Amino acid sequence: MCGIVGHLGPSQSVEIVLEGLRRLEYRGYDSAGVTFLNQSGKLETHKKTGKIVNLEKALSSVNTDSMVSIGHTRWATHGGVTDFNSHPHSHEHLSMVHNGIIENADSLRDTLQGKGFSFKSETDSEVFLMLVFSLLEKMPLKEAILKGFSQVEGNSAFVFINEKTREIFAIKRAAPLVCGTHHTKSQAVVSSDPYALIGAADRIYFPGDEVLCHLSPANKDLISFYDSEGNPSENYKSQKQEMEYDPSDKGDFEHYMLKEIYEQPGLVRSLCQFYFDGDGKKFLEKVSSLRPNRFHISACGTAFYAGLLVRDFIEGINRIPCVYELGSEFRYRNPILKEGDVGLFISQSGETADTLASQGECKSSSIQTVSLVNVEGSSLYRECDYNLLIRAGVEIGVASTKAFTQMGLTGRLLAHALGEHYGDAHHEKKLIDKFSLLAERIDEVLANVEDIKKIAEEIYNKKGYFFTGRGIYYPIALEGALKLKEIAYVHAEGYAAGELKHGPIALIDEEMVNIAIVGPELKDKTISNIQEIKARKGIIVGIGPNDNSLKKISDYFLELNFEGLDELSPLYVNVVNQLLSYYMAKFKGTDIDKPRNLAKSVTVE
Ligand code: F6R
Repeated sequence: MCGIVGHLGPSQSVEIVLEGLRRLEYRGYDSAGVTFLNQSGKLETHKKTGKIVNLEKALSSVNTDSMVSIGHTRWATHGGVTDFNSHPHSHEHLSMVHNGIIENADSLRDTLQGKGFSFKSETDSEVFLMLVFSLLEKMPLKEAILKGFSQVEGNSAFVFINEKTREIFAIKRAAPLVCGTHHTKSQAVVSSDPYALIGAADRIYFPGDEVLCHLSPANKDLISFYDSEGNPSENYKSQKQEMEYDPSDKGDFEHYMLKEIYEQPGLVRSLCQFYFDGDGKKFLEKVSSLRPNRFHISACGTAFYAGLLVRDFIEGINRIPCVYELGSEFRYRNPILKEGDVGLFISQSGETADTLASQGECKSSSIQTVSLVNVEGSSLYRECDYNLLIRAGVEIGVASTKAFTQMGLTGRLLAHALGEHYGDAHHEKKLIDKFSLLAERIDEVLANVEDIKKIAEEIYNKKGYFFTGRGIYYPIALEGALKLKEIAYVHAEGYAAGELKHGPIALIDEEMVNIAIVGPELKDKTISNIQEIKARKGIIVGIGPNDNSLKKISDYFLELNFEGLDELSPLYVNVVNQLLSYYMAKFKGTDIDKPRNLAKSVTVE
């Protein structure tokens, strides 16, 4: 989704901003732009639809020497994908970028138009720029931004440059924003993602909501913070920048998605090591003190499906009831949050607006909250009382793969920490062995990828796809279908195998494919369900154990060895689904790492 980067320092401002924007490319966007203070002391804006490379081409004949600039990658919400609607938006001595949605933009625009202000774009973002501008008649910029911000509804982050003073202002409400300083380099930076600031800042600051960040070369600290009244504020968290920038070179892999699929065995092993032998022990220890009566699990997309798996772990192992709800629905359902309940939120980015809103709902009901999250320091991480990092490393492919596996496994560790065997060396050893068995089995799947590729080639052009599974394999069916549709642009649905006959079976014919996941649990019942599809001439891709009746009804068959994996086996099967989707998308020739219309981090409701 939209990416923001701003910089002020002695030189190379535009280069630093563009480098930051490039690092955020993986998040998905449809246009890019930059505003800088040129050598004549004037704001100069360049923006282009399409990839950053289009913007770079436009800048190639421009003198971009500058000490202050802001840049943006836009994922359109209000107004089409056009150069005009791209950010930054500028008016006279101000330029601004925005991430989020202004919910009352229409009424603010009407009022401003009534006062004679006009607009160059169709965006909600420009409304804030003009609102602030209109307030400058009566007050300085700092106060105008604070006052304007109090009038906008919805979750947003804004960053301004002021041509007159060479300063940057930034402010946010429930949207990601991070500032940074590097005193040796005499520069201050701001972004929607700390990842963009690695190398440019050695200290980073996470401002609270409604806190105005002021980046100024005239300030010896380079940065200061103000509350909504304009008084100095301490409502921010600061830490040393410890992330290292790995240009995440794809190596020999054609796509990040494939690279990330292959990283899984290593990540499974290191997750286990971290929580049983490394610094992670203290986090497990901390969550082990929780005594939940009930969990409320909430997340979005792939993370939600991981949540269903985690529900199975917690209910199965701990017998603690779990209710679960999509992040986008949670707060509107008026959830029953009782004392003793615990909210559990799962997210790769830690910035998903709907997941954060669910967490906020729990927090305001004073129930404790736990995250399973990848990005340390993200909004979700900072808001939750307890955090278990999923340690997937940077995930660049928009379609989440390794994060799903790590979410599921970290959920399994949570169940362990809450269980009666926590701290028992014998049980821990058994769990560690099971993790390493999973890593081995995933290695085997990766070694036999040619079999999966062949099937992908046979089925990629069919009419539609049903992924089916039962019991603990049902969440994997849902996740398999999501992965396929997002990267191969085909219609796919995940279904509980026993449910097809209640309606969707009407769609089955010789052009429909059933990717039938069969594990040891409920095996015979699942095979009976597949028979029903076969009887209607559906094409069966059986993924399961060595079983004669399954082999007999499968048009294509992938044999898996479930022995010893027990409750972790869905994560094993899921790797097959990931590869199947990957190769089907490859045969279709889609943009696998950056599928159309999708964003990596969904920071709007
Ligand atoms: C699918 C995918 C999305 C995300 C969802 C939540 O491959 O990546 O469905 O899982 O947008 O994102 P996070 O995990 O960042 O909260």
